Amino acid sequence: MTVGVNGRDIIVFDKVNKIYPLGEVEVKALQDVDLTIKEGEFIVILGPSGSGKTTMLNLIGGMDTVTSGRLVVNGMDISGLDVKQLTDYRRTQIGFIFQFFNLIPTLTALENVEFALELVSPNTRGKAREALEMVGLGKRLDHFPSQLSGGEQQRVAIARAIVKDPPILLCDEPTGELDYETGKNVLKVMQEINREKGQTIILVTHNSAIAEMSHRTIRLHSGRVAEVVEVENPKDAMELVW
Ligand SMILES: Nc1ncnc2c1ncn2[C@@H]1O[C@H](COP(=O)(O)OP(=O)(O)O)[C@@H](O)[C@H]1O
Ligand SMILES: [Mg+2]
Repeated sequence: MTVGVNGRDIIVFDKVNKIYPLGEVEVKALQDVDLTIKEGEFIVILGPSGSGKTTMLNLIGGMDTVTSGRLVVNGMDISGLDVKQLTDYRRTQIGFIFQFFNLIPTLTALENVEFALELVSPNTRGKAREALEMVGLGKRLDHFPSQLSGGEQQRVAIARAIVKDPPILLCDEPTGELDYETGKNVLKVMQEINREKGQTIILVTHNSAIAEMSHRTIRLHSGRVAEVVEVENPKDAMELVW
């Protein structure tokens, strides 16, 4: 099944500014960002260190709030949510994948994924198993993180992020700690999730080759959107070269 990009706006930045006070000075992490992301898009965000990439993900993920402007996600203005509402928002709308996989070392792959489901129900285990099968780890359910390679650990982290079926996946340098082939395999899994489940994926990287697998690439510079590029024929992850 191919779900693909449909016409619905899922994330809208409307003149968003994010300023961090730093002693006497202010750091303008994001300035006047206007940007609309469609449901089902695979977006790559590029930019040098300090350009505001992580800040952008943190705002979308409800880990931080805008200083001014509006940020609308799935029809909801999240700039006005209180702490409790933001927690709820994160739980239902967002899956996170980080550079360092952040797995719990004392839990098996299956338990790490189950843990993300929070509420235990009769089919918790089944759902966790299904997510691990989706990332190609159906045979490694009972392995602990220390028994898995870096790429496998990152795939467990992806399973953990998708197990609740959130509409948006946020990935901050997900291949930063992985070697070339392993990194591409992890990207392939993300591409499959985007294509088969239609989840909107926003992936931050400083590797510009990864942009070629996106639908659209956004380049940040000094907290501003410097460039937005539509990719005509997104490449398969395995075709990427860097
Ligand atoms: N919590 C914070 N407090 C103060 N400054 C911050 C904070 N988080 C990020 N910044 C600053 O905001 C800018 C953008 O940071 P960030 O979004 O992490 O960039 P990137 O992910 O592109 O490297 C940088 O100048 C950074 O130092
Ligand atoms: Mg960053």
